[in-house]
Amino acid sequence: MELPKIKILNEYDKRLHMVSKEVTFPLEEKDKKMIEDMIEYLKMSQMDDMIEKYNLRSGWGLSAVQLGVLKRIFVIVDETKEPGVFKNYIVINPKILSHSEEQIYVSEGEGCLSVDRDVEGIVPRYARITVKAQDMDGNPYEIRVREEVSIAFQHEIDHLNGILFVDKIDPKNPFKDSDHMREI
Ligand code: NI
Repeated sequence: MELPKIKILNEYDKRLHMVSKEVTFPLEEKDKKMIEDMIEYLKMSQMDDMIEKYNLRSGWGLSAVQLGVLKRIFVIVDETKEPGVFKNYIVINPKILSHSEEQIYVSEGEGCLSVDRDVEGIVPRYARITVKAQDMDGNPYEIRVREEVSIAFQHEIDHLNGILFVDKIDPKNPFKDSDHMREI
């Protein structure tokens, strides 16, 4: 396997703090290619031999803006219970239709391929959300996601709005309200 040639912007790039634009269809060929590259990159970043070969940091999700493309597109690659088998989510023009009351957070903190440092603190996320979005052909669909996939969706939707997870952590009180939420 060869690593797709993509360059991931880091948190100090101002584009990561800009709001991405709605996507129109049909998708441009270069955007289809970008989506394929993002999926391939994320998959490889979760495979031990590829991590070692290319010195990768593991990631679950990428938004187009992280590649400098200000379009409302993200992908999430989730390894299934069967090792080496991945489920891909391709999410274009997402809107959160509803969410649970319950909030959760990742105990060890969230990570981001654009944030290459340890950040202390937690980000409150909804335990379950229902999202309306479009696929690569522009067909609308609805999806309900929960737990870590729900967190990943919310993290990526934030990217589309120019928000990084680190922006949501209060450095003076990085574990604020954690006792009102469930840790996962
Ligand atoms: Ni991120």
